[in-house]
Amino acid sequence: MSCRIAILASGTGSNAAAIMDYFAMRPSTAQTAVVISDNPNAQVLEKAKQRGVDAVCFLQKDYTSKAAFEAAVLQALTDAGADFAALAGYMRLVGPTLLLPFLGRMVNIHPSLLPAFPGRSAIQDALAAGVRKTGITIHYVDSGLDTGPIIYQGVLSVMPEESEHSLTKRIHEMEHFSYPRIIHACVENRVCMQQESVIWRDKLLCECWS
Ligand code: GRF
Repeated sequence: MSCRIAILASGTGSNAAAIMDYFAMRPSTAQTAVVISDNPNAQVLEKAKQRGVDAVCFLQKDYTSKAAFEAAVLQALTDAGADFAALAGYMRLVGPTLLLPFLGRMVNIHPSLLPAFPGRSAIQDALAAGVRKTGITIHYVDSGLDTGPIIYQGVLSVMPEESEHSLTKRIHEMEHFSYPRIIHACVENRVCMQQESVIWRDKLLCECWS
C-alpha cells in the first residue's frame, strides 16, 4: 500500500520540492499527503500548492503551549492519513507530543557530517573550522538537536578557496538526490530503527551512493 508522507518545513522548501517531485513519479510507493509549516511566509507553502499538495501553516504563538501546538500539528498529520514524516528545514525541536507517535517514522536532514556542526549554521561553521570534508546526514528524529540514529551520510570534499555559496549549492544538490531515496528506503522498510539503532536490510545499496 502506498505510504503517505508528511513534510514539515519552515523555509525555502527545496528539499520538500525534491521529495514531492520524486514521489509524484512513484505514486504506488508513496505520496506527499501534506506539507506543514510553522512559518506563514515560507516558500515551501507555495511550492506545495504549485504541485497540488495540501499545505497547512500552524503558528506556535497561537497556542498556549508547545504541546498544544504539536497536538494541532499531529491532528493535521492524522487528518492527512500520514504514516511517515520528513523534516526538511523544520526549524524547531520536535517535542514528545509529536515525536512519540512518529518515533522511528520521522526523519531529518542536516547539512553536515553529524555529530559535527549541529544547529542552524552548519555549513558556515564547517567552513569556518577549515574542515576538508563535510557533507550531509539523514537521521531518525529523537528529542535532541540534530541527534538521533544516523541512517545515511554523504561526504563532500571542501575545495581550496571554497565559498559558502558554492558549498551550499553542492550540499543542496546532494541533499536533493539523497533525501528522497533514503525516504524511499524507509517507507519500504529497507531500513528501520530498532532500539536507537539503524538496521539496513540492503546496506550495499546505501554504500554505493557514498
Ligand atoms: C537544508 O540544508 C537542510 O539540510 C537543513 O535545512 C535546509 C533546508 O533547505 N535542515 P530547504 O528549505 O529544503 O531549501
